Amino acid sequence: MNPYKVTLDSLASLCKRRGFIFQSSEIYGGINGFWDYGPLGCELKRNIRNAWWKDVVQCRDDVVGLDSSIIMHPKIWEASGHIGGFADPMVDCKVCKKRFRADQLCEEQGAKLITEGSTFRLPEGMKCSACGSKDLTTPKAFNLMFKTFVGPVEDESAVAYLRPETAQGIFAQFTNVLSTSRQKVPFGIAQIGKAFRNEINPRNYTFRSREFEQMELEFFIKPGTDAEWHEYWVNERLRWYGSIGLPADSLTRYVYPKEELAHYASACVDVMFAFPFGVQELEGIAARGNFDLSRHQEFSGKPQDYFNQETNEKFIPHVVEPSAGVDRIALALLCNAYREEWLPKDNEAAEIILAEPGKQAPAGYEARTVMGFAPRIAPVKVAVFPLLKNKPELVEKARSLFTDYRRYWPCFYDVTGAIGRRYRRQDEIGTPFGVTVDFQTLQDDTVTLRDRDTMKQERLKIVDLGAFLHKTLD
Ligand code: GAP
Repeated sequence: MNPYKVTLDSLASLCKRRGFIFQSSEIYGGINGFWDYGPLGCELKRNIRNAWWKDVVQCRDDVVGLDSSIIMHPKIWEASGHIGGFADPMVDCKVCKKRFRADQLCEEQGAKLITEGSTFRLPEGMKCSACGSKDLTTPKAFNLMFKTFVGPVEDESAVAYLRPETAQGIFAQFTNVLSTSRQKVPFGIAQIGKAFRNEINPRNYTFRSREFEQMELEFFIKPGTDAEWHEYWVNERLRWYGSIGLPADSLTRYVYPKEELAHYASACVDVMFAFPFGVQELEGIAARGNFDLSRHQEFSGKPQDYFNQETNEKFIPHVVEPSAGVDRIALALLCNAYREEWLPKDNEAAEIILAEPGKQAPAGYEARTVMGFAPRIAPVKVAVFPLLKNKPELVEKARSLFTDYRRYWPCFYDVTGAIGRRYRRQDEIGTPFGVTVDFQTLQDDTVTLRDRDTMKQERLKIVDLGAFLHKTLD
């Protein structure tokens, strides 16, 4: 767990200042629930996607990829249950006109929303969390799908939806992928892409947004093997979070009790992360039986079963679905990486101290902010500096190293300011390694390699440095 207790405000301020995350449409006052990722944020997200794709698809024999369209036939959402059932209970304050998710409003006030079949009721005493009034409307179901029209005529027959999850694109292409990929059950289809939900109450920075990205795997299995594959994927996914640098003690599992499971599901586990605003879901791993494929068979009239030629068995496969959000993982990584430290000035023997949030560094110390990303996830991997910018020999050598390294990893070249300030700028964006070209480089082809976390520097031959970086970063 990150020992530094970061607040969302200080994180958001760094993310804006250094170009990780911006408010969408900021010059027009912003739009609630939408976010843009700046130069560093988009590298961070790309690293998350690449790490997932590498481990879930590329390095496995039994998973293939898909990139389906965002707008699909509206029948898909009838079959999946999203048109009838994908709704959150919404409540309005009659005094200040603010709108809330009824279940969240109750939860914040230590109560539970009362559900009676498909209707909802607020328990006694609930208040508007903005103005305190008790004059609230009866909660009603609000469908979260964004509606649009396909073609020039805006009538009911042209209604379509922006997908609220990537999963249904996978189910709808199950038979095509099966017949073209030469896969046999058990096997999976993976997809990364945008999803859209008209959330009633987007909040906690990027955590609950209206446009976000999912990484979903539908792993098709033989009926009866659900429990073992579900356990397998829960463990795989937890291991993966470790591989991108989230410490085990910041992650927990939420195992759904039977009464909270959808009627067709046999198990569901959420991977939870300790965010500054509480322990919240990063990913859900559900054993969904054959609900989705059966429903598509029923609504499309096209068979969705699988024939096992070796055993002569025919069945509609069951599925285990690990479903993760790129933006939530990015937020977890940012929260986990952020720390402020106090560094001893002119005293190599003294230790670096973790700063106390909101306090000044004590006498003899200076402050630095560090993003301690794992190298696999860091947006910039290596920064290259010539010691002085007015010495052409140093600049030329540094530039040539930078040109070489950037072919392999996102790198940064910086000549501006004192070397200490250049290191600090890289610490603040989480660059794990700094390489400095100095006068000794010109004599013996060595450079200094600075480690972001320990701030220690070692002298290395340029050939050995290349080998070290490839070993650490590839
Ligand atoms: N196909 C299953 C499915 O979509 P979900 O729990 O609704 O399940 C899966 O979503 C993941 O997508 C979540 O664990 C979360 O990481 C991400 N996610 C869902 N809604 C989100 C939102 N409004 N903003 C950001 N991420 C979201």
